[in-house]
Amino acid sequence: MKEIKIESTLYIFEDLNELPKDVVKLMHKAKEAREKAYAPYSNFYVGAAILLDNNQVITGSNQENASYPSGLCAERTAIYYAGAKYPKAKIVRMAITAGSKKNKTLSPIPPCGACRQAIAEYEVKQDAPIEIYFMGETGKVAKSNSLANLLPLVFDKSVL
Ligand code: THU
Repeated sequence: MKEIKIESTLYIFEDLNELPKDVVKLMHKAKEAREKAYAPYSNFYVGAAILLDNNQVITGSNQENASYPSGLCAERTAIYYAGAKYPKAKIVRMAITAGSKKNKTLSPIPPCGACRQAIAEYEVKQDAPIEIYFMGETGKVAKSNSLANLLPLVFDKSVL
């Protein structure tokens, strides 16, 4: 028997303004997208903004449905649109912000497992890391230099 330790590195910033201007701008786009979320069932609003290497920014928000599983998270709404609109572009980074109507989210809210899997697909496809920044409505911001940090032991095409 052999023990394997898995390490991930995240960087935590006290405040959005500690980050470079272009990241702040992208997070503001994510906030704008969050305002457009359709979340009447959970009252949990998520926005995502993606910067592509062609300088285009694609945004998305969570879209819920009375048939709950038919809804989609903000991150996947954005990344699938990016993939559909600019199939050849590489994703440089993604900014994510989440807020709840029930209580103010002050700590960074990481993307759900299904979204991590979806983002991982594009990281593998483009063979280049995707920076991920995530936060609540306000407060600390977490940064991962690659999606791989958020999804160790990824399931990808190499096993198919
Ligand atoms: N949600 C996202 O948009 N992204 C995530 O990573 C986690 C959850 C959405 C889905 C649903 O509309 C609401 O947040 C509550 O789960």
